[in-house]
Amino acid sequence: MKIQDAYTNWSATYDADRNLTRDLDEIATRQTLESGRFRSILELGCGTGKNTMFLAQIGETVHAVDFSKGMLARAEQKVRFENVTFAVADLTKKWEYPDGSADLVVCNLVLEHIQDLDFIFAEVERVLTAGGRFFLCELHPFRQYGGTKANFQRGDETTEIAAFTHHLSDFTDAADEQSLALRSLKEWWHEEDKREIPRLVSFLFEKH
Ligand SMILES: C[S@@+](CC[C@H](N)C(=O)[O-])C[C@H]1O[C@@H](n2cnc3c(N)ncnc32)[C@H](O)[C@@H]1O
Repeated sequence: MKIQDAYTNWSATYDADRNLTRDLDEIATRQTLESGRFRSILELGCGTGKNTMFLAQIGETVHAVDFSKGMLARAEQKVRFENVTFAVADLTKKWEYPDGSADLVVCNLVLEHIQDLDFIFAEVERVLTAGGRFFLCELHPFRQYGGTKANFQRGDETTEIAAFTHHLSDFTDAADEQSLALRSLKEWWHEEDKREIPRLVSFLFEKH
């Protein structure tokens, strides 16, 4: 199943399914960004708007994009704030977003579905203002090495969504190619699996 179709299928239950990765990502995002205030936020792959609601509280404006119309429809139902706009966009194609117009770009649990990190980081660098931040949170590659991929259940059937493995250095190398400096790297464990390998990795980059 194509990634886009898989997410549109998953959108019906994405918010209600048991999903420790989704829940931990929300915690990581809030903990990292809650003390910041931003003028203009661009959210990449917003899905059903789980983080968009929070971003609307810390940003004067939020522009949230995704290529799954099903996921976006859920987000639009849930997040009805005047400072938030949603749009359909494929992140692998040139972004319709002006140069130097965001002071925060946020991307959660999306890049495992995108092979070419260099293109994404180049576009992030282009749309950020000088001093702007890029927060990225992804399934930890240690989990990918063990075969974990985003997946959902329909009855007895599990659908795994196509994914690309990105090593930690793939992210930092892609940032090094741009004027994006690493400000912090954190690994995250959900309360229920503290003794296991980390579930998520997050990066905070700054454009210099
Ligand atoms: C696991 S969901 C994460 C959604 C949301 N960021 C969250 O944390 O709940 C991944 C999202 O990335 C979107 N996505 C994947 N590849 C994409 C692409 N090339 N362009 C735009 N969105 C994409 C999917 O449609 C899906 O909504």
